[in-house]
Order: sequence, then structure tokens, then C-alpha cells
Amino acid sequence: GLPTRVTIWEVGPRDGLQNEKTIVPVEVKLEFLDRLAEAGHSVLEATSFVSPKWVPQLADAEQLLDGLNRRPGVRYPVLVPNERGLKRALDAGCRDLAIFGSATETFAQRNLNSTVEDQFAMFEPVAAGAREAGATVRGYLSMCFGDPWEGPVPVEQVVRAGQRLLDLGCDQLSLGDTIGVATAGHVERLIAAFDEAGVAPGRLAVHFHDTYGQALANTLAALRCGVSTVDSSAGGLGGCPYAESATGNLATEDLLWMLEGLGIETGVDLDALVATSRWMAERLGRPSPSRVVRALAG
Ligand code: HMG
Ligand code: MG
Repeated sequence: GLPTRVTIWEVGPRDGLQNEKTIVPVEVKLEFLDRLAEAGHSVLEATSFVSPKWVPQLADAEQLLDGLNRRPGVRYPVLVPNERGLKRALDAGCRDLAIFGSATETFAQRNLNSTVEDQFAMFEPVAAGAREAGATVRGYLSMCFGDPWEGPVPVEQVVRAGQRLLDLGCDQLSLGDTIGVATAGHVERLIAAFDEAGVAPGRLAVHFHDTYGQALANTLAALRCGVSTVDSSAGGLGGCPYAESATGNLATEDLLWMLEGLGIETGVDLDALVATSRWMAERLGRPSPSRVVRALAG
């Protein structure tokens, strides 16, 4: 069966913007976050405390958190790769953190300048320190389906890496299809393999990029398997700076259109979201790639 309610983990302000070449002013990011909260979101991934040399767009993380209008009932998770990032995030008042690992060697190298093995040593004190501070910790795992350099990624390899992240103390594991090559049957096989390894679908989230137009079909497959947290980005913004072939995430509007049709509650208002994505598209100077945004914009 399908869940009656889905938590949308909105990643537009982080995954959506991190790859933008032109620096988006912090005031625009703050208004984007506030509009998304106003639309009814309960989880807004705000930014990353990573090296500004690696992701210049998010170098303003402190300023952003400083200016953030934190709404009651809304969580604002941030990405943290290492102890330096942990200190920055905790000092900025963040209590919802995410570590982000790779299932493949090439992407671990390109995204973290690390090996798959060494990334866990980097994350270990981050997860422990976050726990001590009373923060929640999400684990992201990238390249769960295919890797642009290594090709299809074996399910067992993904489960092994995912288990390692969970063992560090993550509350939830988000399965990333970083380059958008997953298909529905592969999604079912991966979730089943996690289940067999003792990781119930309720501990998983799915994170699809829409490169091949499969994100929505993959999401439906995951929901049927018992997953009820779905990552998406307003207007389908995004891409990953260290995986060239990746396009934006599943658009939140496309997701909402499907969920509303299925009678699944999210708390998010579609019209308010479309208006926000149109506003953001004007700021970025190009139309939203979301089909639903385009259809409803008239
Ligand atoms: P490195 O170059 O090996 O690390 O990078 P380093 O320790 O040599 O540091 C390099 C410089 O950065 C130093 O500065 C550090 O101080 C500084 P310098 O001495 O040269 O002046 N530095 C930092 N500054 C601020 N905050 C920090 C920090 N750490 C180091 N936290 C490192 C290693 C992990 C830092 C780097 O590779 C990095 O920041 N990577 C992040 C890349 C990233 O953000 N990628 C996108 C997010 S993942 C994603 O999008 C996938 C996802 O959406 C799921 C999916 O789709 O699959 C989540
Ligand atoms: Mg992503």
C-alpha cells in the first residue's frame, strides 16, 4: 500500500543552488527559504558548511543562518562533511545535520577528496559530536544506482556503504540517485536489499535527480515499498558540481501533483510553491524545468 502522508525534504536552497555559477545574494536565499516555509514545508535544507573553495555558492552559510527567520515547526537541516563544518554548524545554531557519503570510489574522490573507507573516519566525529549536541543526523549516500565513471553500482556495495553510515548513528539514510539513472525496478531491488539487511524502508528516504525523466516513477516505486520521506527541489532546481552529468532534483511541484492525485498529504500548498518557483526562476534568469510549474504558470 501507499503511505497516507509523505514528508517532503525540500533541498532546493541547498542542492538546487549549490551548482549555480553566479552567486545568489544571501537576501534572495533568505526570501526563498521564507517563501518555502510559507508554502507549508516542514523540512528545508538550508545550506552546507563545506569548504568555500569547493562550493563557493554556499560560502555565506553563517550569514544565511544569522538572517534566517526560523519558523516554529520547521526544521532547517544543513550538510556537514567534517569537524570544521560541525563546529561552524553548531555555532550557527543548527541542530539538524547531514553527513554525505559516496557508494563509489570515484565520487568519494571527486566530492570529498577521500576514499570510500576514509570518508567514514571523517564522518565519525561529526556524527558523534552532533549527537552530543542533541542534533539529528541524516546520512546521505550518493551514486546508489549508477556512477558516471564506474557505471552501474552493485546493490550489495550500496547496502554496505549505507549500513556504515547508519552505524555511525544516523537517524535516516537518504538514497541518492546523483545522476538520475535509476529505474523503478532497480529502486525496488535496492530497497528490498536494505530490508533484508535489517534496514526497514521507514528509515530510508529517496533522493532522485530527474536527468532521464524517471524521478517520479522511481518515487512511486519507493512509496509502494514503504518509504515515506522524499527529497525534491522547488522548481526542479539543481545539479551536483562534482557530477557533471547530473541535472536538477525531482521538482517538488511534480511530486506534489502526483501525491495530491493519490490523496497523500504533505502540508505543502501547490499554488504557493509554483509562485515561489516562478519568482526564483526570474531571479536566476531562466525558466523552471518543472513540467507542473510550466503547466500551471499558464
Ligand atoms: P580537502 O581540500 O581535501 O580538505 O576537501 P582540506 O582539509 O585540505 O581543506 C581545504 C580548505 O578548505 C582548507 O582551507 C580548509 O580549512 C577548508 P585553506 O587552508 O586551504 O585555506 N575547509 C573548510 N572550510 C570551511 N568549512 C569546512 C571546511 N573543511 C575544510 N567544513 C572537503 C575536503 C570535505 C572539505 C571538501 O571536499 C568539501 O568541502 N566537499 C564538499 C563538496 C560538496 O559540498 N558537494 C555537494 C554536496 S553532496 C551532493 O550534492 C549529493 C547529494 O545531493 C545526494 C545525491 O544527489 O547523491 C547530497
Ligand atoms: Mg543531490
